[in-house]
Amino acid sequence: MIAECLAFDDVLLEPVYSDKRSRLGGDVSTKIGPLELKIPIISSPMDTVTELKMAHAISELGGLGVIHRFMSPKEQASIIDVMLLPPRPDGDCHSYYAVPAIGVTAEERERARYLFKEFGTDLSMFSIDIANGHHILMKEAVQYIQDLTQGDIPIMAGNVATASGFRFLSELGVSAIRVGIGGGSICKTRIQTGFGMPTFESLLRCSHVARETGVSMIADGGIKYPMDLVKSIAAGADAVMCGGILAGTKESPGEVIITNDGKAWKKYRGMASAEVQMEKKGGMKTGTVAEGVSTLTPYKGSLERVVNEFVGGLRSGFTYGNASNIQELQENARFIKITNSGLSESHAYGTIKR
Ligand code: IMP
Repeated sequence: MIAECLAFDDVLLEPVYSDKRSRLGGDVSTKIGPLELKIPIISSPMDTVTELKMAHAISELGGLGVIHRFMSPKEQASIIDVMLLPPRPDGDCHSYYAVPAIGVTAEERERARYLFKEFGTDLSMFSIDIANGHHILMKEAVQYIQDLTQGDIPIMAGNVATASGFRFLSELGVSAIRVGIGGGSICKTRIQTGFGMPTFESLLRCSHVARETGVSMIADGGIKYPMDLVKSIAAGADAVMCGGILAGTKESPGEVIITNDGKAWKKYRGMASAEVQMEKKGGMKTGTVAEGVSTLTPYKGSLERVVNEFVGGLRSGFTYGNASNIQELQENARFIKITNSGLSESHAYGTIKR
């Protein structure tokens, strides 16, 4: 028996009778573990996506940025320092959430120790960030952080693709789990290894465990259009994590590159790409292959514009699904499977490009 698995592009949400009068209404707020977000968008811990500017700007818009770990602990700490400053000394005195990514090696334990010593429980969450989170190294890392912090700092962990992977991490006591293996726009995992699962299918499979355990589910990898955000949330995700759609904004790290044809781009690369491993570790380990690529993504201008397009899609989706908030969208969601003709009909096609 071979299971048939669905990808984002294989499905749509069935419209239902709606009494929602406005596309501007609707509450898109969510929770990731104990962290309250005004919008369900988290920027990926990648060196072409989330450093200080992105973490700050996405927090300002109500989302969350996970600070990548491909820099020294000191550099990560200097970003956290700024995130924890109150934005306005008088009046609204809250600071932003500070969520550093860490890995699972001995060196990464030092990173965790250093950050915990510097900030203690001012850290909002640790994000343990590895390609295959359904793994003994993840278990050991989660236990290490729990011992280090006496369980006082919630943990985001990932990635997993299956219900048993999700259950494994929830039983370790983490607060949020990233779901999706091999679906990232710069990812070669499936091509190099033959392993993976369409992200949408993973969400469907993990959603009942998420509901049962109360652990937050983050859809990670493959968000290309606003519809993918809406489908992820409707399938049970509490938020989406995005790399590709946020790379190339003014707030992502890196310079704008202008090619000969006058077009503007920024670099976007997988953290397991050969380029990153050359730069950060002086080369690929012998016998290993790169599971990510390095590419250019069109320069997109301000983060706010991109976020508005995606959140606007979700708000609008609420009216088709007769929902005033995320929970109602999930309760009302009925997915239908479409064919390739359905997919090509979905994209705008009746236009002459100008
Ligand atoms: P995107 O939003 O489709 O571009 O996917 C971003 C996600 O891809 C990240 O949040 C990671 O989970 C994942 N990712 C980052 N770097 C790599 C890589 O080098 N190989 C495979 N997956 C990656």
